[in-house]
Formats: sequence, structure tokens, C-alpha cells
Amino acid sequence: MGDAHRIGVVGLGVISRAYLDTLVGHPAVRITAVADLDASRSAAVAAQLPGVQALSVEELLRSPDVDTVLNLTVPAAHAEIALGAIAHGKHVYGEKPLAAELTEARTVLEAAAKAAVGVGCAPDTVLGTGVQTARAAVEAGAVGRPLFASAVMVTPGHERWHPHPDFYYTAGGGPLLDMGPYYLSSLVHLLGPVRAVIGASSRLRTERVIGSGPRAGERIPVEVDSHVSGVLEHEGGTLTTITTSFDGVATTAAPIEVHGDKGTLMVPDPNNFDGDVRLLELGEREKGWRTLLPSAGYVGAARGVGLLDFVASDGLRAPRASGELALHVLETMTALLRSSAEGRRIELSTSVERPVPVPLTPPPEWR
Ligand SMILES: NC(=O)c1ccc[n+]([C@@H]2O[C@H](COP(=O)([O-])OP(=O)(O)OC[C@H]3O[C@@H](n4cnc5c(N)ncnc54)[C@H](O)[C@@H]3O)[C@@H](O)[C@H]2O)c1
Repeated sequence: MGDAHRIGVVGLGVISRAYLDTLVGHPAVRITAVADLDASRSAAVAAQLPGVQALSVEELLRSPDVDTVLNLTVPAAHAEIALGAIAHGKHVYGEKPLAAELTEARTVLEAAAKAAVGVGCAPDTVLGTGVQTARAAVEAGAVGRPLFASAVMVTPGHERWHPHPDFYYTAGGGPLLDMGPYYLSSLVHLLGPVRAVIGASSRLRTERVIGSGPRAGERIPVEVDSHVSGVLEHEGGTLTTITTSFDGVATTAAPIEVHGDKGTLMVPDPNNFDGDVRLLELGEREKGWRTLLPSAGYVGAARGVGLLDFVASDGLRAPRASGELALHVLETMTALLRSSAEGRRIELSTSVERPVPVPLTPPPEWR
């Protein structure tokens, strides 16, 4: 425990529980401090975790007992907290998106490079056996040459279950910035970076109704588009059509499909760590879809595994859930929205190396 990497958590809302479940007691890390704008939340969490201090946000960012700030605040605060951590010489690993706006995200990465600290960013679900097994299959030639792909995320909206869903409908939210990182990070793993996009989006309802918690029934304004679709041109020439929507009740479409000249691969929901990867090979329609055995990825992983991967990389290799990947994903998303607004194809200015694949890693080796 003596050399454990010290983590300070900022933002103690809904998703913080999942991270704490993974990180508390893990031998590689030690949570030393927690902070939230709402001091009652940090006090409540610290009371449950011996040795963890409840601090103000500023105190945590300055604390000499924190090596990496885990930033679990809402998207509009991601850049501000990240820059505060970097200014105090700390690494930062945060929830997605990297920032609410592309310019802010670039500023974060530039500041980190100057300060010689690392930036990591969710999602880490794509490091689980679902997306990693699919990637291994594509790389092994299971579909032959990938020619095109599709990605579909349809939900009636998080306000149905989240008790304070305002951030999903303000800058940094919307179906693409909220859920797109899972799909786009997966697509970079599977097919490589994106060179250009064409987008179209809509906002046909101006209010949403909170469905749970103390504010149930309250109407909240919609300040971003709630349905976004588009086409991505990957650098290798593959085209992906993407739909992300808070406007549909349900869909039967596969979350992601990769089509090649020898087969079609169904990739499980990239918002989860695992799930069945299924393959139908050309000429095998009668045999039907075959489920592939997990062959890559962190087995039984949960939120926080990307931070463990980030801490373990420690200058030896690039972290897989990296700031550079998150910047490319954010540029892809903001370019889709800009393309929609301007009615034209947009070429991206960023690219990224595909992250190093995750070999099949059973729980004793990462937990
Ligand atoms: N809820 C989920 O299921 C889920 C899943 C995956 C990722 N995420 C991501 O996690 C992040 C947080 O989501 P959530 O659902 O936990 O939100 P939440 O609203 O439940 O929690 C956010 C917390 O951050 C605090 N906060 C906001 N601004 C702050 C600031 N400037 N300084 C300190 N604290 C601040 C809030 O007080 C709140 O406690 C978002 O980026 C979201 O996209 C959420």
C-alpha cells in the first residue's frame, strides 16, 4: 500500500459509486481525498471510507497527498477542474467528454504537455472483452477487409432515470457528446481514426420532463440537439454511418456492425464492458451467427479500469484511455455538429494512434 498511486476524486454524483467500487481497496491506488461543490456529498463519502479526507475542491487540487485527480464532475466543469489539477502538477483522468468544447480540450492537453503530466479520459468500457474481442477478430481477418460500419444509440432520454439530468441537455451534453464517446472510441479501436465527417441533427422538442427523484415532473430546457446522425470517413477509407438519439423509444439495430468482404461482425453495446461478439461469414447464412469466445480485453472489468491502466502505464507506454484519443473523439463529435449547422463536409485536424490492444487479462491481473 505504501507506494500506491494517490487519487483525489472531484465530483461525487451518480457515477462516482461505480468508480469507488473498483478503486477502493485496489493495491495499485489509494484514494486520499474527495471533493464536491456540494460539501455534504464529500463529507458523506469520506465518512464511509477510512483514511479519506473531505476537502474543498481548491484544497484537493493543491493537496500534496494527491498524484492524480479523478474528475467525475459534469461536462461543463471538466476542463476547469482538469486545468486546476494540471496547474498544481497533478495528472488528471476524467469522465467523458474530455471537455464541453474542443478549444477547452486542446487547452487541457497543451497545459498538460507543458507541465509534463498525463491526461486520461473515459470511456474505459471499450477496454473490456466486448470491444476488444471484436477488435481482435477484425485484426485476425474475421470479416476480411472492413468496408463499412454502422453505430446506433437510441434511448428516450436519461431524464427518465437520472435525478438531476440538466447537464444532458446543455453544452457538453446531447446524445452525441454524452454517448458518442463509447461508440467513437470503439470505432477508433476497430477501424482507426476519422479523417472527415458529414452530420445532420435536430431538436424537435424544446423541453424534457424529469422522471425520477425529488424533482420528478419538473420541466427542463433543451439547449442542444437531441438527435444526431452522420457519416464518418475513417483514414483507411471505411465509412461508418452513426445515429445517436435521445428521441427514440427503442431500436433493434446492433450497437455497432462491421461489414467486410468476408463477413459481418456484431459488436456488443460499448457502454458495457462485455457482451457477445457475433460473426456471420459469407456463404454461412444457413449456419447462422456464431458467437466468438472472449479473446481479448480486461475480463469482468468495471468503471475505473481505464484509470488503473493509466496509472500502470506510468511512462512505459501510452495509456489506452488517453487524452489524445478523447481529443480526437471530441473533435469528431463537434465536427459532426458543425457539419450539421453549416451543411458541409468537415475534415478533421486531429488524428490519433490506435490504442495498444488489451490482451485477454483475467481479474486477478487487473483487480
Ligand atoms: N450517470 C451515469 O450513469 C454516467 C455514466 C458514465 C459516465 N458518466 C459521466 O460522469 C460525469 C458525471 O455524471 P454523473 O451522472 O455522476 O453526474 P451527477 O450530476 O450525478 O454528479 C456530478 C457531481 O459533480 C459535482 N460538480 C459539478 N461541478 C463541479 C465543480 N465545478 N467542482 C466540483 N464538483 C462539481 C456535482 O455537485 C455532482 O455531485 C459526466 O461527465 C457523465 O457524462 C455518467
